[in-house]
Amino acid sequence: MMSRLRSAMRQSKRGGVEVIESAKTTRKRTKTAVKEEETTASPSSYHTFTDPAAVVLLRSELLTWYDREQRELPWRTLAVTEPDLNIRTYAVWVSEIMLQQTQVATVIDYYNKWMKRWPTVQDLSAATLEEVNQMWAGLGYYSRGRRLHEGAQKVVTELKGQMPLTVDSLLKELPGVGRYTAAAVGSIALGQVTGAVDGNVIRGLCRLRAIGADSTSPAVTEALWDLANTLVDPDRPGDFNQAMMELGARVCTPKGAVCSQCPVQSHCHSYRKVQQNSKKLLGKLGGKTSSLPDIEECVISGTCRLCPSEPWDNALGVHNFPRKPAKKAPRVERTLTCVVIRRGDEGEDEYLLKQRPDKGLLAGLWEFPSLLLEEESSEMKQKRALCAVISRMLGTSVTETLLQHIGDIVKLYDSVESQKEQTSKNGKKQNATGVKNNKKPLPSKKAKLGAESSGGRQLSLSCFFKAVKEES
Ligand code: ADE
Repeated sequence: MMSRLRSAMRQSKRGGVEVIESAKTTRKRTKTAVKEEETTASPSSYHTFTDPAAVVLLRSELLTWYDREQRELPWRTLAVTEPDLNIRTYAVWVSEIMLQQTQVATVIDYYNKWMKRWPTVQDLSAATLEEVNQMWAGLGYYSRGRRLHEGAQKVVTELKGQMPLTVDSLLKELPGVGRYTAAAVGSIALGQVTGAVDGNVIRGLCRLRAIGADSTSPAVTEALWDLANTLVDPDRPGDFNQAMMELGARVCTPKGAVCSQCPVQSHCHSYRKVQQNSKKLLGKLGGKTSSLPDIEECVISGTCRLCPSEPWDNALGVHNFPRKPAKKAPRVERTLTCVVIRRGDEGEDEYLLKQRPDKGLLAGLWEFPSLLLEEESSEMKQKRALCAVISRMLGTSVTETLLQHIGDIVKLYDSVESQKEQTSKNGKKQNATGVKNNKKPLPSKKAKLGAESSGGRQLSLSCFFKAVKEES
């Protein structure tokens, strides 16, 4: 053990010299050159795994735990049971896209419905974008569904129906597939030997190797990918990556890590730090000085790109890591929205909707006509501008006097939804508007938002135009 530690120290010192030298000589170089050096100088051994035996042990401990504890998830079952490579790759691709920014528990139902309706890439490519958006409704980040659809059409029309079968080609050919997703699909569906670094894995690795610098920085990102590639089990890369994800989701969680249940606890620098600190504290309370040797630390911490810039906070324990830069304040936008309703042929409400542009936020989705509010502009001026928008859409003049102010659209929607929830919990029947005991009672039927709540039918704009023309 001591000789291992000594050799690690020697390596760290070499690393330290390199970093100091590069800091001296880069002063006159361009920013790009500095950035490259910042990410390429090798990290100290404190933040890596230098002992092959420790790597073998960690793999075996993690996989044994995973084999015992893993959740049964539909994409995992497909990845193991589906013999057709094309279908298996498609199935894992769909799961990984759905799992981006969405919890496993939410994805399961969507995934099962999706795979039932479009079991192959050919089936998905034959669907319309409207159908895909409908299937995606409620999952959020709608561009993900659109990109899956685009990707499926590309596979069918440009790749002869063959899914890309390597990490590099997945990354190159499929829209919406980045470094992580390509690595996850490649390892899980195709057995390619690569690490895969998602949010859960970032957390686990930062804690394991006490990486406390900004986890979104290029230097940390590269170090984490190197670590993941060192650790991945060459015989079971997909299981290993999923085990790392599972560990992050179930044990090494953001705020309530359960270190007592961690299968790789003995490899964790953060856990060791917590233990050492509590022993030191106990020693002090008992009036003794600790006889424990000092904790192994990064020997180049003053110049290390992976060490934290802020000191370790004892109260946080392993949750000291990972660290992110403070979040930027969200941009606040206000829009003036107009709900145009008319009576349909069968007496039902029909709503005027317009489609958002193909690119950007909520691309291609349908919404009530609206206008971004400018702070300096008066309410009257903005109403007039909105009337102009609606007049253009309808091909007929709409004046401000026709507009009735009904309130803040999102708050109204929320109050209708929570009222519905409350009513269904109480087991009582809803009234016609679905709004009861609202602080600000809605004045009329017009406040009923959403086709579902009103029993109304959503029309596309072209359909609405047709109807308007027929009427006039
Ligand atoms: N998150 C991303 N990919 C996952 C997977 N395959 N299993 C569980 N969670 C995940």
